[in-house]
Amino acid sequence: MSRTIGIISIKGGVGKTTVSAALAADLANRHNKKVLLIDANLSAPNLGLHMDIVSPEKTIHHVLSGKSKIEHAIHSRYGVDVIPGSYVYEKNVNPLKLKARIKEIKDNYDFIVIDSSPSMNDEILSTILASDNLFVVSTPDYPTLSCSLRAAKIAKQRGKPITGIILNKIRNPKFELELEEIERASGIPVVARIRDDNVNVKALFTRIPIPVYDKNSAFSKELGRLANALCGKNETSFWRKLFSFNFGKEEVNRQILQEKLYESIFDEKKRDEVVDITKLDMPKPSFNFGKD
Ligand SMILES: Nc1ncnc2c1ncn2[C@@H]1O[C@H](COP(=O)(O)OP(=O)(O)O)[C@@H](O)[C@H]1O
Ligand SMILES: [Mg+2]
Repeated sequence: MSRTIGIISIKGGVGKTTVSAALAADLANRHNKKVLLIDANLSAPNLGLHMDIVSPEKTIHHVLSGKSKIEHAIHSRYGVDVIPGSYVYEKNVNPLKLKARIKEIKDNYDFIVIDSSPSMNDEILSTILASDNLFVVSTPDYPTLSCSLRAAKIAKQRGKPITGIILNKIRNPKFELELEEIERASGIPVVARIRDDNVNVKALFTRIPIPVYDKNSAFSKELGRLANALCGKNETSFWRKLFSFNFGKEEVNRQILQEKLYESIFDEKKRDEVVDITKLDMPKPSFNFGKD
């Protein structure tokens, strides 16, 4: 079963592209998942520059303007299949075809990660409509929070409530919004708290996604915990388990996220639509996915 994850915000510079590239790289390399990463920021694409794709021949722009089949725009980098954007602007692109194009190859992947545009038009809408789960990236300040609330509203209006907030670029908590304030204002759980981390400058300069550049960085570790939850893996680190009384609220949120996602993936009702297990000549299987 494949899951499409949209990384959105209606503010630029909060870390959508960085988080998308890092999440895709972590899912592919540490969890051995088959991952497709798509640049859906059609007016200002730059995901390719995080993934060492400098001059792509075929891009998402070719796909959405009917000039290329989606399979032909795939570039393999760092264990991830990437569909970058065209750095030279292409006209006649229909963003709303994104969902249909993805559907053609969705079954080949465990995860599809979409890096969205911050533009309040069909670009962000295309990501919202194509995604099974949406995460808003936000920084812990009032201007960005107000934008995140708007993004959440748009998504909800389209019947796609936000699954979680990824709080990024935390610099000085004394002068920043706290997790509880953000959750109270938005009604959305914060599922990751990522510090402002110098590793970003180095990874971006070398065009290597952060978990590949430095898997031990604070950025990689926190993002990795979110990836664990998406894969149904419990927190395994001995030290984190030992000091579990230190778990933040985001840790609890990830546990809930993990349970919710796995409930929906292995929805018994959906399974029953495909096969009537009561008619099968075998014992009822016990489902305990993601709890290994
Ligand atoms: N946690 C972080 N710490 C430090 N710099 C970061 C962090 N996350 C992102 N950045 C930097 O912020 C800038 C904008 O990030 P980007 O992912 O392009 O944002 P967006 O896609 O939302 O416009 C980039 O230079 C990136 O390296
Ligand atoms: Mg971006």
